[in-house]
Amino acid sequence: MENQNRPKLSLKATPKKTAPKKRSKNRVKTAASGQKKHTPGNPAASADSRLIAFNILDAILKRQQMLEAAFASSDGFKALDGRDKGLVRLIVASCLRRHGQLSALLKPMISEQTAAPVQLVLKIGMTQLLFSDLSQHAATDTAVELVKKIGFERQSGLVNAVLRRVIREKDMLLAKTDICDNLPLEIKQRWQQNWGAEKTAKIAALMVQTPPLDITAASDSDTLAKKLDGTALNKTTIRCRFDGDIRNMPEYESGIWWVQDAAAALPVQLMGNVSGKNIWDLCAAPGGKTAQLIANGANVTAIDKEAVRMDRLRSNLRRLNMTANLKVADILDNSFEPTAKTGDIDIILLDAPCSATGTIRRRPDILVRDERPDLASLQDIQLQMLKKTLSWVKPDGQVFYATCSLEPEEGEEVIRIILHYNLAKLIPFTPDELGIFASSLAPEGWARILPDCLTDACLDSPEAALGNDGFFIARLAPIAA
Ligand SMILES: C[S@@+](CC[C@H](N)C(=O)[O-])C[C@H]1O[C@@H](n2cnc3c(N)ncnc32)[C@H](O)[C@@H]1O
Repeated sequence: MENQNRPKLSLKATPKKTAPKKRSKNRVKTAASGQKKHTPGNPAASADSRLIAFNILDAILKRQQMLEAAFASSDGFKALDGRDKGLVRLIVASCLRRHGQLSALLKPMISEQTAAPVQLVLKIGMTQLLFSDLSQHAATDTAVELVKKIGFERQSGLVNAVLRRVIREKDMLLAKTDICDNLPLEIKQRWQQNWGAEKTAKIAALMVQTPPLDITAASDSDTLAKKLDGTALNKTTIRCRFDGDIRNMPEYESGIWWVQDAAAALPVQLMGNVSGKNIWDLCAAPGGKTAQLIANGANVTAIDKEAVRMDRLRSNLRRLNMTANLKVADILDNSFEPTAKTGDIDIILLDAPCSATGTIRRRPDILVRDERPDLASLQDIQLQMLKKTLSWVKPDGQVFYATCSLEPEEGEEVIRIILHYNLAKLIPFTPDELGIFASSLAPEGWARILPDCLTDACLDSPEAALGNDGFFIARLAPIAA
């Protein structure tokens, strides 16, 4: 649920080994404010775009900033027009998605002493040459110009030589790298162990693609799909191929749709008819599922501990002309008590904090984190939250537990522990309820949604080939104490 500037440029899927990540050392001043208006063929605007992309990537790789925070704190980015914003987003996201492959390819072409900022310039150039339809000349020329701008003028010959070699040896280089190189070793090994080598390669191939723009319709997706020139995947989700600023899409102002991945829309769909029900949406921000619950007629209380994220939720609901009872609170804090109306809560949605590995294609900065989230600590938090919610929902109510994670530690294991200690009973989903995600139904009755779920489900739809975010969802009922 966000504002996005989507690139008008296509990225190619590709083919094949692992090298250590290099971190850039110097933050370089951006030619930020007062950006020239982009006109096609305005080389100055393009060169500035590369510098802005460089600085954003540097903030993510070196200072470990989150992707959206890095865009939000870049004055240079904010000053760009829509088209250049799209180009910068494309270069940054692609460079992060392909960072493992880029590092592996670059390593034998340079010396170990090559400064980190120069390596980053090379990766930006290689991203464009190997994984985009952008002009080869523009990619090389702007890289040479960029390395001069960041103060490494004497390395311009090296940049030129390496990128010309990349142009010459493109096919051979691509054949040398493996799509799974983009996954950090720990993630790659874990997924190969949990999901198998073939599935891991399929997931890795989906994660380097620019994800589709999925829209949740407040009502009747078929009619809205026509207006948005998209494909209704089911009654809730419309898959669009819109490029550009979503605020320019039809009906943006009327607030009858919002951005949400098809899989993220599933937990609320699985609740069935929620009209008139009292529902607590815990861990609610930025509010995609809150909006869906309100649109379906529920009385919603939305809670999240992050005030800034709740501000986003508030402004998202404002655009959608929706209201809910909003609280900023830490649900694990001992002083947090659900209101006296606890016994009235029909359903609780616990969209728990997690490693978010199911959303890597939308948040490729996850791939270049120096530190990996501690799954054991996250599982501990998830279990604490789930135990509390089971005590808050009314005796004949339900708790929907969801995580956008591909790690069984944050899905299957959590539910197995809850069931093992007899803290709840599982209400299995049916294939009918899961609809286009029916293949995610596990024998145990929960939904394990891998990113290729839709590609398996609807082979006749080219839209489905773009996959979906990874998710885990289980439906629980409390057991009387
Ligand atoms: C996966 S995101 C939620 C996404 C959201 N449900 C949606 O659909 O837009 C997890 C959220 O949990 C919140 N969170 C983490 N720990 C929390 C806690 N102890 N109490 C309340 N919220 C928490 C985070 O601030 C974050 O917004």
